[in-house]
Amino acid sequence: MDFVEQLKSSVDIVKVVGDYVRLRKLGNSYKGLCPFHNERTPSFNVHSVQQYYKCFGCGKGGDLIKFVMEIENVPFYEALTMLAERNGIPMPKRSDYSDPESKLRESLFSAQEIALKHFRQNLHSNNGTHARSYLKNRGLDGALAAEFSLGLSTRSGNALCCLLQQQGFSADQIVESGLALRRDDGGLYDRFRGRLMFPIHNESGKVIGFGGRALEPGDEPKYLNSPATKLYDKSRTLYNLHRARQAARNTDRIVLVEGYMDVIGVWAAGVKEVVATCGTALTNSQVRIMRKYSGRIVLNFDPDTAGVNATEKSIQMLLEENMHIRIVELPEGLDPDEYVQKHGAASYQEQLDRAGNYFFWLADRARSRFDLNVAEGRIAALQFLLPSIQKIPDKMERAAVVSDVAAYLKLDAGLLLEQFRKAATNREQIRLDKPRYDLPSAEKMLVHALVQSAQARRQILEELAALPHFQQLSGKHIFESILAIERSGVPFRYGELEARLTEEENTLMAKLAFADDTEEENIIVKQAMACLEELKQRASRERIEALKTEIAAVERSGDMARALALMQELKRLQARRSDY
Ligand code: CTP
Ligand code: MN
Repeated sequence: MDFVEQLKSSVDIVKVVGDYVRLRKLGNSYKGLCPFHNERTPSFNVHSVQQYYKCFGCGKGGDLIKFVMEIENVPFYEALTMLAERNGIPMPKRSDYSDPESKLRESLFSAQEIALKHFRQNLHSNNGTHARSYLKNRGLDGALAAEFSLGLSTRSGNALCCLLQQQGFSADQIVESGLALRRDDGGLYDRFRGRLMFPIHNESGKVIGFGGRALEPGDEPKYLNSPATKLYDKSRTLYNLHRARQAARNTDRIVLVEGYMDVIGVWAAGVKEVVATCGTALTNSQVRIMRKYSGRIVLNFDPDTAGVNATEKSIQMLLEENMHIRIVELPEGLDPDEYVQKHGAASYQEQLDRAGNYFFWLADRARSRFDLNVAEGRIAALQFLLPSIQKIPDKMERAAVVSDVAAYLKLDAGLLLEQFRKAATNREQIRLDKPRYDLPSAEKMLVHALVQSAQARRQILEELAALPHFQQLSGKHIFESILAIERSGVPFRYGELEARLTEEENTLMAKLAFADDTEEENIIVKQAMACLEELKQRASRERIEALKTEIAAVERSGDMARALALMQELKRLQARRSDY
């Protein structure tokens, strides 16, 4: 058996998904809140027989491997490796699944691992005395430094390059790893020199790059990061996510801060659900990744101008994705790390728990920016706030926010509501629903049976396809696709069928597949036979009507021989019908 098939048949998708989503059993399928979009009522389904998942809210669906790819944000080969590792299944040695691209990624991963080890050794060597005391001064003890795998890059020009070359990496690979740069004369030198090194991991905990902090006050830049590589895309990376994600799920909260040191400080204060962007503005991809773990976010950026602007932009970005947002603004201009150092863990946690809805923060911004004592100021404040109110998806919540804000800013609630309604009518376009693709109930039941049961496929498919009016059936294309898979001789799999169907057919199919199907196979087959019979009868009823019309026409034309033949066929059909 092919390795992918082997993996799929020995690992249960229900168990794998269950590690990420709380599932409730309903017959052969399981239901839960979709990890790929924010929802309050469950529309995410996992089918234990079909080994398939589908969300009717956002449309995502697929098999075991697709699920791991999506939720872990990894390519195919890595999803395979992860599943194999977690389930103690040995991966084939010289794998056919590792294409050149995957092999390159593998080698880039191992370069990062070698660098990590090298940096850590440096920190603990004699050359690391200064860096170790720097850490200590910043309140970071040995255990915490080890937990975050902090390290030190050497001052000399190419220690890491040499090490990688010794280990058999080519110059091109070393450059592609982002760990080194090429000199004009073609020689290599280390990108990071004499810096405190923060490894950056991907969602599943593999090192993909580094951030390096200068140790001397004059060194510029203060932070130097890995460039974009095949492994590291900063717009899709959140520092510390692999450690934070479990806590984020448990507490249903994510604390977003700006810096590496902030993450470590907040983590040390006992708040494990903390992540940071890596020196970039928050991106849409990062928000979507966070949302898999929790839809509730607490923003705690630096209270300087840059941090305030970043907070404003992030609020819009988070609202686009329907996140629930609260804001912490720490006093005395302190960043999270400094606050924890100065006021302690308990005080910081209190700040988090006290964090207000983003709206009050925005209202404060409006108040400091505009003069609310004059009409123009009030209008300007409104215009500043309106876009954020409009993005609140829930009508009730939106109305509540409008009146809260009006009260908070002592604005006329009527004026606010009127402005708001005007904006809302502009925004809401009338959507005409397309008629949805659907099947008559007999065909639906047949489709259901054909997907569920091999016996049904054996007993019914060919006969169904031979029906005289097969071409006119609404579900013709679905039936043909199932038939094509059966005739091709490959084992019937839901994913195989999905690949052949159109999007609207797939939506309908998924609904059927996840319908309650606790019946025994022989009952399913019996029901299907009855449906087939019904279709046959419908065919003969239609044929009888057609014959009657044709006979009348033929009689009028005087072709008595033809009329007689048709009448015989009619009699045969009518006799057979009266048998039922
Ligand atoms: N950053 C960066 N490049 C810079 C400056 C900052 O990539 N030249 C990123 C880093 O990820 C850094 C974050 O932005 O952690 C926040 O920067 P800053 O607030 O200046 O640093 P702190 O995190 O407070 O770091 P420290 O406490 O060590 O000064
Ligand atoms: Mn700081």
